[in-house]
Parts: sequence; C-alpha cells; structure tokens
Amino acid sequence: MNVDMNGIGRIASEVRKTTLLRFKKDVLDGLLAYPKQLPSKYFYDKKGSALFREIMALPEYYLTDCELDIFRNRAGELSSFVMMDDTPFDLIELGAGDGLKSKYLLRELYRKSAKCIYMPIDISGSVLDVLGSSLQRELPELEVQGFEGEYMEMLAEACSRSNRRKVVLFLGANIGNMEPHECRDFCCQLQNLLSPGDMVLIGFDLKKNPQQILRAYNDASGVTSKFNLNLLERINRELFANFVPEQFEHYPMYDPISGACRSFLVSKREQQVDIDGHTIRFGKGEVICTELSQKCDTAEIRQLAAYSGFETIGMLTDSEAWFVDAIWKIRPGEQFKVEAR
Ligand SMILES: C[S@@+](CC[C@H](N)C(=O)[O-])C[C@H]1O[C@@H](n2cnc3c(N)ncnc32)[C@H](O)[C@@H]1O
Repeated sequence: MNVDMNGIGRIASEVRKTTLLRFKKDVLDGLLAYPKQLPSKYFYDKKGSALFREIMALPEYYLTDCELDIFRNRAGELSSFVMMDDTPFDLIELGAGDGLKSKYLLRELYRKSAKCIYMPIDISGSVLDVLGSSLQRELPELEVQGFEGEYMEMLAEACSRSNRRKVVLFLGANIGNMEPHECRDFCCQLQNLLSPGDMVLIGFDLKKNPQQILRAYNDASGVTSKFNLNLLERINRELFANFVPEQFEHYPMYDPISGACRSFLVSKREQQVDIDGHTIRFGKGEVICTELSQKCDTAEIRQLAAYSGFETIGMLTDSEAWFVDAIWKIRPGEQFKVEAR
C-alpha cells in the first residue's frame, strides 16, 4: 500500500501564502469589475467542500445520480477503455472531490489487476484528506499520489513525474464551470500536456427540461444557497472582509438556448463591504455571478474534441440520457501540438 496524500502537491506554507495572495487578487479583481463575479473554484474551502458533498446527495441534484449510474453499471466497459492494451498507466483525476464515482472504476481496475497509480488532483486539501482516508479503508492495495492545487498546474507536475501512459478523468461536469472559450483553451492545454496513446474521460451535463436543470441549483432544503453564501463567509474568514451574508440571496438562472446555468448572489440592499483597504459598493438588486454550469449536446462534445486535437472513442450515457461521459484519445497521427487559441 502507498497512500501518499502528502506528496509534492500538498503545499508548504510558502505556497499557501501565494495561494492566499492569488485568492485576494481574484476576489478584488472580480468585485471591482462590472458585472461583479467570483471564480467558482473558491467555493471549495473546508466548509464549502462539506456542503458540496451534501449537494451531491440531494434528490434535486441529478448530476451525481446520472454519473453514478454510468460508473456503477458500466464500470466493466470503462475499465476496458482505460486499460487498453494492458500497459501500466497513471490514472490522473482532475477535481477528484471525494471520489464517489471514480471508486467504482478503481475497484473494477483492482479486480482486473490493472497496473495503475491513482493521482487525484484537487484545489481542496480537506476533500483530498477525506478521499485519502476512504481509499486507505476501501482499497488498501491501491497506490495513490494526491496533488493539492489547480488543475493544469498540478497536471503538469504529475506529468513531469511520470513516464507511463496517462488516463485523465474529469468528472462531475466540472468542465461546465468554464466559459466556452476557456473550455476550448483548457482542452487544447490538456492535449498539449498529453502524448499519443493517452486518454481523457470527461463528464458533460446535457441540455434537458429547463425546470429539471434549475431545480438542481435551487434545492428545496436550501443547501445550494448555503454553499453559494459560504463564498462570502470564506472571504470574511480569509481576507478579513465584512460581508453580511444575510444581506445577499442565492439566485440561479438557466438559459435553455445557450445552455448556461448561472448562480448569482443578489444584494438585498444598497451596501458597502471592506476588503483589505478596498471598499466595494453594491446597489440594491446588484448581482455577483459566482458559478457557470454549462449544459451542452452531444454534437458540441464531439466538436470540442475535434477542435482540441482529440478523437472521440466512446460516449457513455446514463439510462435517462441526461449525462455523458465522453472518452477521448489523442487523434492518431497527431504529430503537431495544438496551440491554445
Ligand atoms: C463539482 S465538484 C466535483 C467533484 C468530483 N469530480 C465529482 O464528480 O464528484 C468539483 C471539485 O473540483 C475541485 N475544483 C474546483 N475547481 C478546481 C480547480 N481550478 N483546480 C483543482 N480543483 C478544482 C473542487 O474542490 C471539487 O472537489
């Protein structure tokens, strides 16, 4: 057994300082812009990660059930794709969270004696701790190297330390948190970091009844609202700001034409907030955009793969056909490296 969740990715105090500075810069840039916005990656401090795990268990949050359906019932197929010719490989998961779904694949790979090392990457150290302890209990023979940090930085780090074939998992429709142009750049960067023979397995949430989608981001018990407001509490905790979260409310909106589902925080009154010597003013009804959860159709997924130099070799859907896990591999004969555009 080798569960190394304190490897190169588990950052030391100097890196923590840089992370805090980056957080402060992103918060100030976002709140001084118009319209105001905050990057959704900052939801996931310890409290936010715990709230997200509650969201995954909500009846309205169909995304988890759909992807679980694929991983539970089609783990055999998934494992055949990723094991390919039975060569050893590294299974690198971007934004692994608590690994709820990936563990079905990991168990199947273990059952088939696949030669793989599991490398979960997550910006949230607390969720990596949860994942590390559960893997130690449930799959004690699995070799694990955890990386705490951002997707691309940690992926580059993981790739620089590995000379084996790579399979990258990116589940939970996390890719939908990127604006369409960022998403295309991200896939091009991914292609740049990988080599012929490497694979990617990405979860996408498909367009469906708009009411169904909106309910997933506006649950009756109010957990999603708490999750959204925790971002303001985190800014208070870490940047010594003075948001009064009760003076903001959660507001999700879905546009079925573009497929963009956005979450906002709405200022209930005119107010001002101090963050590190800067005063941020809010009008009554003014919004902060805190998250995009982009929905798409299967043609758009194939186009994205082709644009970024991948070939689609599999599209696995759940029984409702609400969610897709697409399997991509570097296009054969792809000699050139695609530049991020
Ligand atoms: C929506 S959750 C999904 C978790 C898991 N993939 C799943 O499907 O259950 C997003 C996860 O990605 C992590 N995350 C978000 N933005 C990130 C970033 N820029 N770099 C690394 N991890 C990130 C969060 O901490 C969280 O664990």
